[in-house]
Amino acid sequence: MEKLHHLPVLHHAFMLPSGEGSPTVYSILDPHPGDTVIDLTLGLGGHAAGFLERVGVTGKLIGIDADAENIRLTESRLEPWKHQTHIIHANFRDLASLDLPPADILFADLGLSSPHVDDPARGFTFREDGPLDLRFDRTQGNTAAKLLEDASERLLSTIFREYGELREHRRIASAIVRAIHRDGRDFSTNTSLRSLIEKTFGYRAPQLLPQIFQALRIAVNDELGALASLLEHGPSLLKPGGRMGIISYHSLEDRMVKQKFRALSTGTKDEWTGGIATPASFKLLTKKGVSPSSGEVARNPRSRSAKFRAMTKLKIQETRYKK
Ligand SMILES: C[S@@+](CC[C@H](N)C(=O)[O-])C[C@H]1O[C@@H](n2cnc3c(N)ncnc32)[C@H](O)[C@@H]1O
Repeated sequence: MEKLHHLPVLHHAFMLPSGEGSPTVYSILDPHPGDTVIDLTLGLGGHAAGFLERVGVTGKLIGIDADAENIRLTESRLEPWKHQTHIIHANFRDLASLDLPPADILFADLGLSSPHVDDPARGFTFREDGPLDLRFDRTQGNTAAKLLEDASERLLSTIFREYGELREHRRIASAIVRAIHRDGRDFSTNTSLRSLIEKTFGYRAPQLLPQIFQALRIAVNDELGALASLLEHGPSLLKPGGRMGIISYHSLEDRMVKQKFRALSTGTKDEWTGGIATPASFKLLTKKGVSPSSGEVARNPRSRSAKFRAMTKLKIQETRYKK
């Protein structure tokens, strides 16, 4: 399936009621000619192309994605910039060991891309039949089908509670475990899981299925573990004055980004004197998470839950005087 279609979020400015253009990742991260940009979630290269247009012929882009199929699709899109682009098939969880150069911009647009949902063979959608896979990187790790087969009821219940924020987490887990271990059911396809949920929850199934699939996807790809590693190692990759920005799509991820960016841009106080013990080494570029405008959500409903947060690494003289 050769579908090259994914609308990048916060990529174009839309007209606001005030008459101004809405903010974009570029207006906030401010790419300059000659900048080195690391795009940790290359996807179909929409944002990468936006950065490359702005950094000009002296700039450079390193693009990373865990999904080899997305990389293959994107290589041809980025062909006009091939001398300035270096593409790596990797998980950003392993950022610290990828030997990347210091960056002016570090950017991540988390989660899945449209081809994941549009191609039933990837098993991300419950709407059409396909293998219950849900891995971004099909070259490693366990599929969602294997997770269901191996996990205890308790673990599944935790996954549905934590990653799907589902009140029905216990009932979902017990229905799955009973179906597998008592009735000998096999959940190798997404429609087999969907029909169990429909049988168990009746008319409520359509509300639960998106969260059930989201929870499995987060678990299968260890998405929160990967984000924690990115938040730990990413900031030190930035040059002084460099900018780091992350678009997240659910509250668990957004909370992690918000807390880490806040901590790095706050510094610590001396508990005796109340003076500054460690100065902040970053400054927030977004006081609140930036959401797409209503115009963008109307054009691209998949953008509706997006939140963008960004910060900049202070130069040494700035950290010294920062309050
Ligand atoms: C929302 S899409 C990015 C879309 C991209 N900004 C564009 O404009 O086309 C997210 C991408 O991140 C990739 N991804 C998700 N988690 C990853 C991880 N931990 N490491 C590397 N890539 C990851 C997915 O495979 C997907 O291609």
